Amino acid sequence: MAEGIIAYGLQGVIVDETRICQIFGDQGKLYYYGYNILDLAENCTYEEVVYLLLKGKLPNKAELEQVTADLKAARGLPESVLSTIKSSPKGSIPMDVLRTAASAVSLTDPKPDDNSAEGQYQKAIRLTALFPEIVAADYRVRRGEQPVKSNPKLGHAANFLWLLHGKEPGADAARTMDVALVLHAEHSFNASTFTARVIAATLSDMYSAITGAIGALKGPLHGGANEGVIKTLLEIGEPGKVKGYLDEKFKDKNFRLMGFGHRVYKTVDPRAIVLKKYSEKTGKERGTTKWYDMSTQIETQMKGREKPLYPNVDFYSASTYYMMDLPPEIYTPIFAVSRVVGWCAHVIEQQAHNKLIRPDAKYIGELDKPFAPLAKR
Ligand code: ACO
Repeated sequence: MAEGIIAYGLQGVIVDETRICQIFGDQGKLYYYGYNILDLAENCTYEEVVYLLLKGKLPNKAELEQVTADLKAARGLPESVLSTIKSSPKGSIPMDVLRTAASAVSLTDPKPDDNSAEGQYQKAIRLTALFPEIVAADYRVRRGEQPVKSNPKLGHAANFLWLLHGKEPGADAARTMDVALVLHAEHSFNASTFTARVIAATLSDMYSAITGAIGALKGPLHGGANEGVIKTLLEIGEPGKVKGYLDEKFKDKNFRLMGFGHRVYKTVDPRAIVLKKYSEKTGKERGTTKWYDMSTQIETQMKGREKPLYPNVDFYSASTYYMMDLPPEIYTPIFAVSRVVGWCAHVIEQQAHNKLIRPDAKYIGELDKPFAPLAKR
């Protein structure tokens, strides 16, 4: 980059090479290790994607059985992590509890700094297995319920719903959660993944990188937007009020509609296309398409603006989750339950060909100010 040119927000800056993920923002295409996300969402389980992201290839039958067994074997919250969750002050933000609990998991690992290939794989599997248990335990504790233990009969997505609700989900709900987890698992050098890579590049440990990533994902301009979407839908209340609501809100030039716009996509996010179908399907199964109808109306309005804006992954996930009886405060934690494996894949890739990440800044302050001793200031 030419000296003196500032890329605010690192927009358009290529900081490294990666084999994990490719996005074509102007075409609305997304690939994990060369596989189109639409094929993965249609045909794969989350466990297959876990293997793909950690090993760089889709598993065969034996490999899938192995990774599934590894994930199940890594289930079971350590007592100290459970008590960290239980001792969180009333009213704590679920993403803050997840961040604290993820960090607490590291204290239960006898070799937290083992950055060997096998050590990294084990940590990635363990974190991926424990995230649903952490999120669900916190969800139940804050509702005054006892956390339930994982169900060994169930796969990752179905088990997550079991952990939340304490009962086996139906096949449709389990598949919807599975697809949502597949879609959220990876997205190149976004803010939280880049955070993880920055931490990994110091040769710190996987837990530190993932803990930092959770903090980045929490922000409303990143993973936190899905909670904002459902708040918007609830505020609007009914389909007939969409246009009036948006006209009123957009009188404020600084208004940001959550779930729209993206740094990379300049058209519809392909994940939103898939989740839109699940929003409609789940609505029909639940006997009301109200939230889906409102969402499509918003999408139409936003496309028709002078500067069109398109839905991102957070937009249709919100109405889908809402109709699955999942409360808004856990939408961003659900995102983390999926994305954790993508973060881990990037930590592994970063450390495999590492270069400390340390950009420059253009200094715009004063220099050589006369120093005054404390007594004279
Ligand atoms: N609502 C209203 N206007 C928007 C929105 C939005 N959601 N998104 C972008 N714009 C407008 C901006 O006001 C700006 O307009 P201007 O050129 O007239 O000043 C223009 O579009 C470009 O926006 P930037 O903020 O410069 O684009 P950037 O790439 O920095 O931001 C971001 C991307 C942060 C995602 C933005 O679109 C946004 O705030 N969206 C809402 C939050 C959201 O949904 N986040 C989730 C993203 S997906 C994810 O992280 C999982």
